[in-house]
Amino acid sequence: MDGNSRFISSAQEGPHRDLEELVRRHMAYPFRKPVLDFNRAALATALAARAAWNPAAPLILDAGCGVGWSTQRIAETHADHFVIGLDQSLDRLSRGKPLPMPGNALLVRADLVDFWRLLAENGIRLARHYNLYPNPWPKIGHLARRWHGHAVFPVWRELGGIVECRSNWRIYVEEMALALGWLSGQTVLAEPWRTDEPMTPFEKKYLASGHELWRCRVDLD
Ligand SMILES: C[S@@+](CC[C@H](N)C(=O)[O-])C[C@H]1O[C@@H](n2cnc3c(N)ncnc32)[C@H](O)[C@@H]1O
Repeated sequence: MDGNSRFISSAQEGPHRDLEELVRRHMAYPFRKPVLDFNRAALATALAARAAWNPAAPLILDAGCGVGWSTQRIAETHADHFVIGLDQSLDRLSRGKPLPMPGNALLVRADLVDFWRLLAENGIRLARHYNLYPNPWPKIGHLARRWHGHAVFPVWRELGGIVECRSNWRIYVEEMALALGWLSGQTVLAEPWRTDEPMTPFEKKYLASGHELWRCRVDLD
């Protein structure tokens, strides 16, 4: 799959003109979609695994972790944290298994839209919160499917932590940086990202295909 990934094509030439209105609307009104039981069970499983390892360990969420490469890497570099790698796709989570996970990490299948709200509902804070190469949804009409345009986005503020988002679509990261800026009251910058050690399969494939990579980061604490 390396080396032949298509460049993102979108009719958008910059951040979506409705972005600010949408994000501020979501910040003003609570998101009330009911939470499904399987996501509650996923949270209970993740918290039990942390409790068995070290109940006091700070939490890191690798949101949309895919096959879990990044979860493994984050757990190795943050050996005193507990890392939850979460994805909705059982196929991705189980591809190429068993991927050796360190004792301070767990891969969990759940829907982020519910899982983020469950963390907040339970008063759980994150030390770090990764969003590595989220689905870009590049069509103009798909703004509300991008995480910063989704109604669940404002709950990130309650979770805290250092948020990091990476994408090969510059506009996605520019929009995310603007939205995180409105959410946090800080100036958040979209910056070019370069690495010789790709942390995820998508990062590896985009680098091999000659794509520019972008990222933004903010400390929500
Ligand atoms: C483009 S892939 C990136 C995977 C990985 N982070 C990487 O860089 O290789 C996006 C991932 O987000 C997951 N995802 C999308 N929406 C999700 C949701 N609502 N809940 C959980 N995972 C989701 C998908 O299943 C997919 O694995």
